[in-house]
Amino acid sequence: MAEIICVIGNKGGTGKTTLSHMLCQGLGLLGHRSACVLTDTSREPLSPEGRRYITADARTRDALTKVIDKLRTLDDWIGVIDGGGNRTEMDRKLYALSDIVLLPFRESHEDIRTVIRDLEMFPRAYAVPSQWPSNSWQRDSADRSVAQLMSAYRHRILRPVGALSASKLLLQKQVPEHLPTPLANACRSLGRQVLEVLEIDVIDDSQLQTPEIEPEDRLPPAEMPLRFNQGTRRTH
Ligand SMILES: Nc1ncnc2c1ncn2[C@@H]1O[C@H](COP(=O)(O)OP(=O)(O)OP(=O)(O)O)[C@@H](O)[C@H]1O
Ligand SMILES: [Mg+2]
Repeated sequence: MAEIICVIGNKGGTGKTTLSHMLCQGLGLLGHRSACVLTDTSREPLSPEGRRYITADARTRDALTKVIDKLRTLDDWIGVIDGGGNRTEMDRKLYALSDIVLLPFRESHEDIRTVIRDLEMFPRAYAVPSQWPSNSWQRDSADRSVAQLMSAYRHRILRPVGALSASKLLLQKQVPEHLPTPLANACRSLGRQVLEVLEIDVIDDSQLQTPEIEPEDRLPPAEMPLRFNQGTRRTH
């Protein structure tokens, strides 16, 4: 049976679609088969060509049921469902059928307030800092806001996905033949931490024919109090 991950949240523009595609690309680069499932009626389906994952169009209720039923029959697959913003009923439905849930949020206090409400509503969900600043003082300030406002949820916050202008390449109908290395690395890093949450072994990268090398960006947990804490994984 495939694992189902949904990317939702009661706020538009937090990076759900981008994160869904980055995650699928990262899983593909790590040797896992995944499908990025579109449910947002305001978006067009994207061609799977050039991607490390397949894309599925589930913009109608029937299509979504079919895609989920199909995924449920596939072993070793991971289905990533991109929810649309501001659709609480749809979010509840997707939450009910998912193994894990990701809630991207940006650094604004408004996003943080919304993601806290969503974390309370969805106890199996993890918050993912999205479009996180790369400039170090801005990043420190964003981390401080999270530390102050979200300390009660610190064990449910994954490592941030940085702001990367290249991320929009994955939302193009057709992706370029070669994606920039920083994007591939960010995709892999996201894929890795989601596999950790799902308790799926990460295949050794050296066995894969992917030339990019990811710098080891992991700090000791004590130095990253806000980041994902390995000791608090969800048990299946
Ligand atoms: N990691 C990132 N780095 C830079 N820009 C990003 C990143 N993630 C998202 N964006 C940009 O932010 C905007 C919103 O992203 P996206 O469409 O993924 O959000 P969304 O949550 O799916 O929105 P909606 O609620 O409309 O479905 C887009 O312009 C996208 O290119
Ligand atoms: Mg979207």
